Amino acid sequence: MLNIILCGAPGSGKGTQSQLIMEHYGLKHLSTGDVLRAEIAKGTELGKQIDALISVGNLVPDDMMYGVIENYIASLPKHCKGTIFDGYPRTVAQAVSLSALLKKYHMDAIMIDLMVDEQLLIQRLLERGKVSGRADDNLNTIRHRIAVYHDQTEPIAHYFLRHGNYFAVNGNHGVEDVFSQVKRIIDRESKH
Ligand code: AP5
Repeated sequence: MLNIILCGAPGSGKGTQSQLIMEHYGLKHLSTGDVLRAEIAKGTELGKQIDALISVGNLVPDDMMYGVIENYIASLPKHCKGTIFDGYPRTVAQAVSLSALLKKYHMDAIMIDLMVDEQLLIQRLLERGKVSGRADDNLNTIRHRIAVYHDQTEPIAHYFLRHGNYFAVNGNHGVEDVFSQVKRIIDRESKH
């Protein structure tokens, strides 16, 4: 089984690369951002709480996310080729929880980190904001999301580096070029 944790700042291309990996390798895709937006769309009380956090660019609490991930992993079919975890983990606590869950289910994962310059992140998200309808795709919230990423998400790279399964990719290039780098890593690591 091939599990990939796709990490990177807002706008680094996690969703875009997930789509390509999913199509090329036949993996499942779990985007925690999509799961949370689906809950908001249902208009539930939980959805309202989530909306209040996401729309200003803050993270949803770790314990709320843990339930989503545990249910997902527990429900995976035995023949599953693997999952792309897009946007999870986003804190060191989430990284520790995910590692424990994967171990419990006799799975492991590699982390691919999409590295993109800040000006390019902002440019991509402002461009997407013209059509996305996402409440968090505006300049103030984008800046806050990037600050939250540096503060809470970046440290997880050290966690995976220590465990020897961390790979950085230069995400400043075009979509196909980035995907070539991603494929090289996946092809090499899936042979182990
Ligand atoms: P989430 O939906 O995961 O948003 P994000 O991390 O801010 O990432 P984005 O979707 O904005 O960008 P992306 O990296 O996927 O890039 P994309 O491929 O779309 O999370 C939203 C919120 O949910 C979080 O802020 C948080 O509040 C909450 N949340 C989610 N997970 C959580 C968790 N685990 N814990 C707590 N809270 C959580 O590309 C962006 C744009 O760039 C697109 O228009 C695309 O076409 C373009 N593009 C992509 N790649 C390229 C390229 N190589 N060249 C040119 N353009 C490109």
